[in-house]
Amino acid sequence: MGRDVIVACDFANAEQVLNFLDKFGTKKPFIKIGMELFYGAGPQIVKEIKARGHKIFLDLKLHDIPNTVKKSMAVLSNLDVDMCNLHAAGTKAMMEAAIEGLTRPDGTRPILIAVTQLTSTDQESLERDLLIKEPIDKVVMHYASTAKAAGLDGVVCSPLEAKKVHETCGKDFVTVTPGVRFADNSVGDQKRVMTPAQAKIEGSDYIVVGRPITAAEDPVAAYDRCLADFLD
Ligand code: C5P
Repeated sequence: MGRDVIVACDFANAEQVLNFLDKFGTKKPFIKIGMELFYGAGPQIVKEIKARGHKIFLDLKLHDIPNTVKKSMAVLSNLDVDMCNLHAAGTKAMMEAAIEGLTRPDGTRPILIAVTQLTSTDQESLERDLLIKEPIDKVVMHYASTAKAAGLDGVVCSPLEAKKVHETCGKDFVTVTPGVRFADNSVGDQKRVMTPAQAKIEGSDYIVVGRPITAAEDPVAAYDRCLADFLD
């Protein structure tokens, strides 16, 4: 399935993201488009970034009844994105419907990964708000296994969980991990972070890196540093 650095383009509008990508010249990083940019700029921004030669992870985290997710995934697949995601909490039936919707007539489809539990959910909110009494790491691994059983390709998780996900679901089950910082970066609002080199050791397949690149004085140099630390 490959390994790569995905740049989280958390910008508010098309102009900002295109100005940012212009800095990369002929380099074409794998780009993550999240809800903010997609809802603000619409599907056109996906087409435009794709036409510039970038791979795209469309991070919209679908969660609805199976039929709605299936039809929505078909729309995303037609946008020719390379990776998209959903909430495993939507159940195995929803995830299977998502794969059906994503699969193109020629049998190809984008990589589909699941969000298990959001990293903003902790043990206390799991028990109090969701009435789930099991330990959160057990819940995360169970959701990952269900995603695998439904035919998904992997999960979004913390780099700290990547090793365990591979032990539970196999080495080919993809781990996409945000929460990456250089040792000399400020951590910002991320709580549990790893450097690209540590994420590589833990077995992350894709690291998602936002502000260490987007807010760097020299974003291209920061991206190159990420690639070198993670891939070499
Ligand atoms: O700027 P930073 O490197 O923290 O960006 C990380 C990206 O990954 C953001 O787009 C954030 O929304 C996303 N993300 C995350 N933690 C998760 C899931 C997604 O940081 N558990």
